Amino acid sequence: MPVGVFDSGLGGLTVYRAIRKQMPDQPLSYLGDNAHAPYGVRGADDIYRLTCAGVERLWDEGCDLVILACNTASAVACKRMQEGWIPADKRVLGVFVPLIEAVTERDWGDTSPPREVDVKQIALFATPATVASRAFQRELAFRAIGVDVEAQPCAGLVDALEDNDLELAEAMVRSHVMALLRRMPNPQFAVLGCTHYPILEHIFKAALGDGVKVFSQANLVAASLQDYLKRHPDMVGADRSGRLLTTGDPQSVSDAATRFLSQPLHFEAA
Ligand code: DGL
Repeated sequence: MPVGVFDSGLGGLTVYRAIRKQMPDQPLSYLGDNAHAPYGVRGADDIYRLTCAGVERLWDEGCDLVILACNTASAVACKRMQEGWIPADKRVLGVFVPLIEAVTERDWGDTSPPREVDVKQIALFATPATVASRAFQRELAFRAIGVDVEAQPCAGLVDALEDNDLELAEAMVRSHVMALLRRMPNPQFAVLGCTHYPILEHIFKAALGDGVKVFSQANLVAASLQDYLKRHPDMVGADRSGRLLTTGDPQSVSDAATRFLSQPLHFEAA
């Protein structure tokens, strides 16, 4: 059966691409809720309701396992969904935990008490809703002590990327990085905590300077999914090929997605 990949719009395609590369034989179905993007400026209840609707649509596609390839949905809705909404035969996984495990150099499922780690200062770039949720700091505190996180809400960046206005998006990245560096001049790590942002990873890296390590969330999520499927072969199931679905206009989303990943992508109406 296909694994479902969900995002508010195009950003989750960075995760979709990384999974495709790591597991070329794994069928995948993607749902972009482009009609309602961006999520990052919405309230928590709204994000929860839209994420549940998207996940249910992917369950209808036969995806018993759905990856929320959206940090905003992972930060704001995932825990609430896991606390009783998800039926016993389905799974919904967020993209936050693999990232934090990598930052804190922990193996999957290591539940030992929080401990001192090498990293002391982390710059987090994310949507306003993800920053407001403080989910990154909460998950980090379960695993590590003595780490400062400076978070920069990057308002407007997802809109610019969904509209393919790269000039605006690049200018926004530079100004958000400058704003953060004024508050934390020497971060060791930068976390691009929105799946749209890797498209501009080179701009983030140039603005942050050489000394800052930037984490690639998409590759971490793909590796963690591969590990999960090894441990849960029941979630692989009999084959059924996947589709790319959108709640928006399929033609314009196909055009935008093709530009976004620089490869031909064909979306159908959800
Ligand atoms: N790609 C989503 C994320 O990772 C974008 C959120 C939005 O729609 O604002 O947060």
